Amino acid sequence: MNLVVAGTGYVGLVTAVCLAEKGHKVTCVDVDEKKINLMREGKSPIYEEGLEELMHKNKEKLHYTTESGKAYQNADVIFIGVGTPEKKDGSANLKYVYDVAKEIAQNIQKDTYVVIKSTVPIGTNKKIEKYINANTTNGHTVEIISNPEFLSQGTAVRDTLHAQRIVLGANTEKAIQVMKQVYDQFGIEYVITNRESAEMIKYASNDFLALKISYINEIANLCEVVGADITDVAKGMGLDSRIGNKFLNAGIGYGGSCFPKDTKALHWLGNYYDYELKTVKAAIEVNENQKIKLIKKARKYYETFEGLNVAVLGLAFKPNTDDLREAPSLDCMPILLEDGAHIKAYDPVAQANYKKIYPTEIEYCNSIEDTLKDADICFIFTEWDFVKNMDTSLFVKYMKKPIILDGRNCFAIDKMEKEKLIYESIGRKAVTNLSC
Ligand code: UGA
Repeated sequence: MNLVVAGTGYVGLVTAVCLAEKGHKVTCVDVDEKKINLMREGKSPIYEEGLEELMHKNKEKLHYTTESGKAYQNADVIFIGVGTPEKKDGSANLKYVYDVAKEIAQNIQKDTYVVIKSTVPIGTNKKIEKYINANTTNGHTVEIISNPEFLSQGTAVRDTLHAQRIVLGANTEKAIQVMKQVYDQFGIEYVITNRESAEMIKYASNDFLALKISYINEIANLCEVVGADITDVAKGMGLDSRIGNKFLNAGIGYGGSCFPKDTKALHWLGNYYDYELKTVKAAIEVNENQKIKLIKKARKYYETFEGLNVAVLGLAFKPNTDDLREAPSLDCMPILLEDGAHIKAYDPVAQANYKKIYPTEIEYCNSIEDTLKDADICFIFTEWDFVKNMDTSLFVKYMKKPIILDGRNCFAIDKMEKEKLIYESIGRKAVTNLSC
């Protein structure tokens, strides 16, 4: 089969590489020539564990091009994996999906299957099919299959090769058979449904996980005032298999390119159909507050950050990614800067991208020690292994005032109790072994 994947971001590139790993020849299409050239050299434009190795291993089966028209001409199946970013009103921006759809309509030379992997609002698959079939130049038609993606950044390759389900939303049995041929070698259970349900499965899954996080964060906030410990509470809840122990880590809220946008998009869609999704709305509101929770906690110690040395460990929205989209650090940083803090930050992977946003306003460090040196306060925004495994005596050794505000509960309370410092985390008791 001649497979083409449009878009080489997290979804598109990982899909293409995993399809190649399972034996297919795949052409990757992107409008960004720089990215294409990079991939031709065997380099991945995104930081994702195992991806470059698989690109290298399957280099004979992978082709990269900006010439989309040519690629679509003889494709049997075209995957659309382009971004669907958030519009100002919270709805999903489908511009890039339509750009690809237009190109497909103008170029296909035979009837073609088009698979939408991008997260798109319910009803989009049908609309795109109608759009392409109304605009083909030579009478050929497409059939659209909804095949949403459930990979997480940082574990994208594993999540794709060993997915827990492959959701296929299609109108005809023939389309399902073609998709089963594509995924034949994956050996993963299928969920076969109509296109609207497939589209809804994606949003409902992401929004449920976002809700679960906001729920545990609210419980954590309450734990702090009633003397309960969120780690114990989450453990006690998670052992109930109806609840499950995943996504019960309290912290400074969810970020990334998916949960924030997908909660807003579904809430928007609900309102469009005159049905307010109140639970989703609550998840969004709780998350907005949670992202700046550490700043609120810090005000107890310093009314203003003016003139203070502020250390920041971790910038990415979660560990093992250089992605900064909707990272809580980006909500906190402007507040600290506006106050006039002197910020030293360290994130071995994400700081290169941070520099593009704050090239001069922040001092970037190369070690924990440098970051902590003379700091009046330290914020932890990401639970990287380098933070979780660090020697906690460094806080006392290097900081002027060892006040640590941990947004990701990286350290055990009893461990921190042994140090002469102030340590506040989320949903757990504060350690105050230092007078301020
Ligand atoms: C998420 C979903 O997990 C994937 O299944 C989905 O395919 C993807 O969105 C997508 O739609 O493309 P991702 O955004 O990469 O994946 O990251 P997650 O690991 O889900 O984390 C999202 C955010 O939630 C992070 O900021 C993380 O720190 C936060 N989180 C996660 C918590 O605060 N607590 C938890 O217990 C789990």
